[in-house]
Amino acid sequence: TRRVRTRDLITAKERGERWPMLTSYDQYTASIFDQAGIPVLLVGDSAANNVFGYETTVPVTAEELLPLVRAVVRATRHALVVGDLPFGSYEEGPTQALRTAVRFMKEGGCHAVKLEGGRRCAAQIAAITGAGIPVMAHIGFTPQSEHAIGGYRVQGRGDAADDVIADARAVAEAGAFAVVLEMVPGEVAKRITAELPIPTVGIGAGADTDAQVLVWQDMAGLRTGKAPRFVKRYADLAGALTDATRRFADEVRGGDFPAAEHTF
Ligand code: KIV
Ligand code: NA
Repeated sequence: TRRVRTRDLITAKERGERWPMLTSYDQYTASIFDQAGIPVLLVGDSAANNVFGYETTVPVTAEELLPLVRAVVRATRHALVVGDLPFGSYEEGPTQALRTAVRFMKEGGCHAVKLEGGRRCAAQIAAITGAGIPVMAHIGFTPQSEHAIGGYRVQGRGDAADDVIADARAVAEAGAFAVVLEMVPGEVAKRITAELPIPTVGIGAGADTDAQVLVWQDMAGLRTGKAPRFVKRYADLAGALTDATRRFADEVRGGDFPAAEHTF
């Protein structure tokens, strides 16, 4: 089957079909998610936390993300792969944003890019889409701005709903093909989803968005410790990997591995 196109996602919205999205940063997860039927994979700047071990997404660079984008593209046949533009690579304005987006398309080989910001990034979204590159926007809580926002906080509560709604309208008008709504009250996400012609992708935005995204290590329980309330763990990969590692270590120490069948 052919690759998913942005057009297919708009059609899905028109038909009322919901779709799942996951992050991916490497070939094995990319190929598993692709074959399991995830239509959109995001090489998120959350690689900062989930691959490189930074505290926030602020330090990660295009140089660090581009090899991960290439790996995910190479490992997939069906999914539309979105490359996340890192902090500092698009804020200066449309020229810088377009330059970085072109790099992600040419060097990363992805099929779309994503950036954070609503009204303040409308000019960047217009410049990138104007050059023929699909853009997924990201509004509500935007992790690259966590120091300005003051931590992981729900955005758009009470009167602030109007700000998130204005951001949603602005990114759709600027030409985005989809918009991530992160940590937005369910009622606000529902309203935006009903109003916009483009799909909404929720993360901590309730059940009424057109799509849902999770960081794969959260979804599969590779990351341990306290997870945000919007995370659901569908597996215990951390437990499975810890168990496998302990058994391997024990067998090496006990002289049980390798056995005759592993030996030339
Ligand atoms: O980088 C990321 O993982 C994201 C998603 C959570 C939307 O931006
Ligand atoms: Na991101």
